[in-house]
Amino acid sequence: MLEDRDFFVLENVEGFVEPAALFASVQPLYIEIGSGKGEFISQYPLQHPEWNFLGFEGREKRVRNILKKLSPQRQPNVRIVRLMVDANLAAVLPSESVSGVFIQHPDPWPKKRHHKRRLFQQDFLNALAEVMLLDAEVHVSTDHEEYANWIAEEFVRNPRFVSLQEPLIQASPSIQDHVSTWYETEQRRMGYAPNYMLFKRI
Ligand SMILES: C[S@@+](CC[C@H](N)C(=O)[O-])C[C@H]1O[C@@H](n2cnc3c(N)ncnc32)[C@H](O)[C@@H]1O
Repeated sequence: MLEDRDFFVLENVEGFVEPAALFASVQPLYIEIGSGKGEFISQYPLQHPEWNFLGFEGREKRVRNILKKLSPQRQPNVRIVRLMVDANLAAVLPSESVSGVFIQHPDPWPKKRHHKRRLFQQDFLNALAEVMLLDAEVHVSTDHEEYANWIAEEFVRNPRFVSLQEPLIQASPSIQDHVSTWYETEQRRMGYAPNYMLFKRI
């Protein structure tokens, strides 16, 4: 288990993570921010061995949950970065290194006085735009309707992204091999449907 941690987890990251040096094969890089209990980052890469994946997760307890779902034999194309992501992303990943982004059920911080803690702010979107390749896509979902509208508005305000959906917020995921995360399953059980968004870096 400890050996698996050495294989998978990058922590105390200072400066750039060099994707080409991390993985056995140089392949397109996809990232997930807020990997939670690891459903997406353990299952989706099995369907896409032709891509490499970095899952960013800030909380140590969650990193340990994720590790229980990974093995170097089954998911050699996955690494986990233990880091709270914000605009710092542009100091962690090289410019134009990311082929696609997944962010499912980001913390909604529903109280107005906590809105400044929300991940989706212009400085984060600018950093995301910096690390993404042109035409790369960002998949976002949240069951929190007010946060969904907030996220859509932040993307619309940013000239480096365009929505690939009309209307911007849809009731179904944009990909066929969508992985239902723990939060999605829980929230559905409680009667809250996800809102799915899809944006392209321009
Ligand atoms: C509401 S949970 C959703 C987890 C998972 N995506 C899902 O859908 O089940 C949010 C997760 O993102 C992590 N997280 C929140 N903000 C983050 C950030 N800025 N950078 C990295 N991880 C973050 C939290 O620790 C938590 O595990």
